[in-house]
Amino acid sequence: MATAPSSSADARVIDGRAVAAGVTAQVAAETVGRKPGAGIAPGLAVVLVGEARGSQVYVGAKGRKAAELGFHSIQKTLPADTGQARLLDVVAGLNEDPSIHGILVQLPLPRHLDKTPVIEAIRPEKDVDGLHPVNAGLLLAGLPGMVPCTPAGCMILIRHALGPDLAGKRAVVIGRSVLVGKPMASLLVNADCTVTVAHSRTRDLAATVRAAEIVVAAVGRAEMVRGDWIAPGATVIDVGMIRLPAPERGEGKTRLVGDVAYDEVAKVAGAITPVPGGVGPMTIAMLMANTLVAACRSIGRDAPSFG
Ligand code: GUN
Repeated sequence: MATAPSSSADARVIDGRAVAAGVTAQVAAETVGRKPGAGIAPGLAVVLVGEARGSQVYVGAKGRKAAELGFHSIQKTLPADTGQARLLDVVAGLNEDPSIHGILVQLPLPRHLDKTPVIEAIRPEKDVDGLHPVNAGLLLAGLPGMVPCTPAGCMILIRHALGPDLAGKRAVVIGRSVLVGKPMASLLVNADCTVTVAHSRTRDLAATVRAAEIVVAAVGRAEMVRGDWIAPGATVIDVGMIRLPAPERGEGKTRLVGDVAYDEVAKVAGAITPVPGGVGPMTIAMLMANTLVAACRSIGRDAPSFG
């Protein structure tokens, strides 16, 4: 269940850092390379093209966590002017490398590169991002594959707040991206929720959201979801992560906010994820979980399940 109420609001605060630590502890305990005689360490390769500051920070965090868990962790950093053919070559090399079980190409790519052929070049069984069309299809069909890390982490947080059985719950996902919104909707449908996917063309978004017991906001628009959009007691998961200038904290300072107007929504919701410290840590934890699962499957072992 979610953790203690915050002092200024009614909603229980879902502590993503604590839940993520539980997932990574399970990954550490189950890491095949640590078991005597297993002879295999999960291998993760993260490919970064260019020097976008945000991407460097995310990729660094992924590599550090993998190393901390005893994974074989490599980062391929390619110059910003890398061509499509070279990037496809790098992916092909990682596909053939038996020490690598998971490949992640950090997005967004520089504008001159087309991400679709790159994602399609990753072997589906090494696609720890769950973005390959084969994995997207398996998720839609409710079959085992690789599930994108952020929505997989959101499901764990939702169950943390509401318990394992979500059958019949009304859920609204705001945003229809391939990375979050669409797979999130599939996961909720597969859990027997009644799901609405809202997006920029949805009419009367506030009324749509107000009907939901579970709200997942994944649009990337700072504090868009307001307190009067939320049904009392709803579970609110905020995937947004937007850095805003915060001159009140000093010159050049910034603050991180989500898609949800936290202070307003926390007064109405039953449970809410904060930003930072909510969904973000879960994304990295689920990447580690997916890499472990890929490593287990590569040697024909039963893969652990998470959440
Ligand atoms: N950029 C931001 N989030 C992600 C993610 O989950 N996977 C990849 N590949 N790139 C991202």
